Amino acid sequence: MVGKFITVEGGEGAGKSTNLDFIHQYLLQAGKKVVMTREPGGTPVGEKIRELLLDKQQASISDNAELLLMFAARAQHLEQVILPALQAGSWVLCDRFTDATYAYQGGGRGIDNARIATIENWVQGEIRPDLTVLLDLPIEEGLKRAGERSEPDRFEQEKHDFFHRVRQAYLDLAKTNPERYRIVDASTSLVDVQKQISHILETFCAGKE
Ligand code: TMP
Repeated sequence: MVGKFITVEGGEGAGKSTNLDFIHQYLLQAGKKVVMTREPGGTPVGEKIRELLLDKQQASISDNAELLLMFAARAQHLEQVILPALQAGSWVLCDRFTDATYAYQGGGRGIDNARIATIENWVQGEIRPDLTVLLDLPIEEGLKRAGERSEPDRFEQEKHDFFHRVRQAYLDLAKTNPERYRIVDASTSLVDVQKQISHILETFCAGKE
């Protein structure tokens, strides 16, 4: 691939949107062509699937259906947006990707990682992020921030235990993939969080010149 694939992950209320905008601006200033997108979503079909997945009226979606819908949206996203952009030399900045599936459907719902890996390999082939920025903070703090922002969606209305398992799964992923994972302490001030992110991007971009 010619372009680089950067993903941003984190629990609820970790400040993903603000910091994605910050990363976007940083990369543009560094002279990169950037396609910013999100999961689930990023294509017309993916956004429809997102609506279904976040709708709290859809209480009966089974865990396996949820897993497959995440990958259905991802398959469409890869084919229509991510791969063409990378092949054209753009950098892709994605708000969540497959690590969220390991964290939420694996850690949160309890689906076996091996099952997720099988679908990951099938849908993605060799494609994996080059850099994953994990915005980490204690779940109580994150849920408080998310609750102040909007009505809870189908995931946000889960119990605290669920989010503890999600956070732990992300931290485990960071441990097993140290070459691409960078953990940001998102519990500090915005200025400090962005200082941490700038440092990560500076090092990453320097290694990719
Ligand atoms: P958000 O990115 O706006 O927070 O909303 C997306 C929600 O979808 C969030 O609660 C995490 C969840 N999600 C999964 O459960 N699995 C996935 O693979 C992805 C991409 C997101």
